[in-house]
Amino acid sequence: MSHYHQIQAQLKNTQYTWLVTGCAGFIGSNLLEALLLLNQRVVGLDNFSTGYQKNLDEVQETVSSEQWLNFKFIKGDICQLEDCQQATQGVDYILHQAALGSVPRSIADPITTNASNITGFLNMLVAAKEANVKTFVYAASSSTYGDHPALPKLEDNIGNPLSPYAVTKYVNELYASVFKRTYDLDCIGLRYFNVFGKRQDPEGAYAAVIPKWTASMYNQEDVFVNGDGETSRDFCFIENAVQANILAAMANDKGKNQVYNVAVGDRTTLNILFDSLKVALAENGVIVDKPPVYRDFRAGDVRHSQADISKANTLLGYEPEYRIQQGITKAMKWYVSHL
Ligand SMILES: NC(=O)c1ccc[n+]([C@@H]2O[C@H](COP(=O)([O-])OP(=O)(O)OC[C@H]3O[C@@H](n4cnc5c(N)ncnc54)[C@H](O)[C@@H]3O)[C@@H](O)[C@H]2O)c1
Repeated sequence: MSHYHQIQAQLKNTQYTWLVTGCAGFIGSNLLEALLLLNQRVVGLDNFSTGYQKNLDEVQETVSSEQWLNFKFIKGDICQLEDCQQATQGVDYILHQAALGSVPRSIADPITTNASNITGFLNMLVAAKEANVKTFVYAASSSTYGDHPALPKLEDNIGNPLSPYAVTKYVNELYASVFKRTYDLDCIGLRYFNVFGKRQDPEGAYAAVIPKWTASMYNQEDVFVNGDGETSRDFCFIENAVQANILAAMANDKGKNQVYNVAVGDRTTLNILFDSLKVALAENGVIVDKPPVYRDFRAGDVRHSQADISKANTLLGYEPEYRIQQGITKAMKWYVSHL
């Protein structure tokens, strides 16, 4: 039995109270679902800026009615300290996901990104400290590696940030470490690498590549590749990210107050990704004939990304259960029935 399965079994018999911020978004709603299925009590906080009520509705359909009664939703904004204070009352563990994602969004409007990602983050830390939570787990980002050329990425070797978004995510790590040092708040940062899966939003200018391309291909529209298609990423299926969050919350003292890469350790180019999505759509009866359309590289994008996940493996017992192909197969079934 893996360490994760042991922790899941323990949680089924011990009920804690968790706060998931950003619970109406992609990663947050998947965390909410996983925790409710483990019979945990969950408080959710979201302002619906990029999240949706329909994501919460889908979680409600997935869990039992008893499990759903363990969920309390607060519509609120992490930029308001009182909202954070209200949400953290009586909470054991925080999984802080609320933030404005997307490198191009942060380049177009750095002030709004800064408000949620830095001021909002700081409010959450203050509220977590006041509420005396056991551990504050937060969404960090692989964008923190910036222009550091080494592959695979090791947690200690970071470069200069390439976008306002990357600055905000690095500042989160700095604040978390200072809150440990000055207020003894235990924190764990999870540097996600291109997470994908059900409920990731395909709409809008700032959609992530997998949902965006899937929707375009499904609708027989052009798929745009930024650059030559040889840009590569370590795509991480959502179930792996859920595992990392739960293990982080349950970490022992050695595992706390660290940042961890959360990915698989694989590297997939955009050209290969395009072919994989095409195959997965064909398996669901959707035939795509159009080749992709290549255009300029996008400002702020890192060229290659691949994680070394040995630190999370050693200190948290993290063992990703899905590689990209298995994740795409699962995600595609969801997209085909929801697009
Ligand atoms: N998806 C990825 O590949 C990825 C990679 C690296 C880091 N991250 C980080 O993971 C977290 C979750 O990302 P996601 O992909 O689920 O994005 P998402 O946009 O689907 O979810 C974010 C949620 O936070 C909410 N939110 C935003 N600002 C808020 C505010 N001020 N107050 C309250 N709620 C607010 C949104 O309404 C949304 O529901 C973010 O912190 C993001 O930066 C994601």
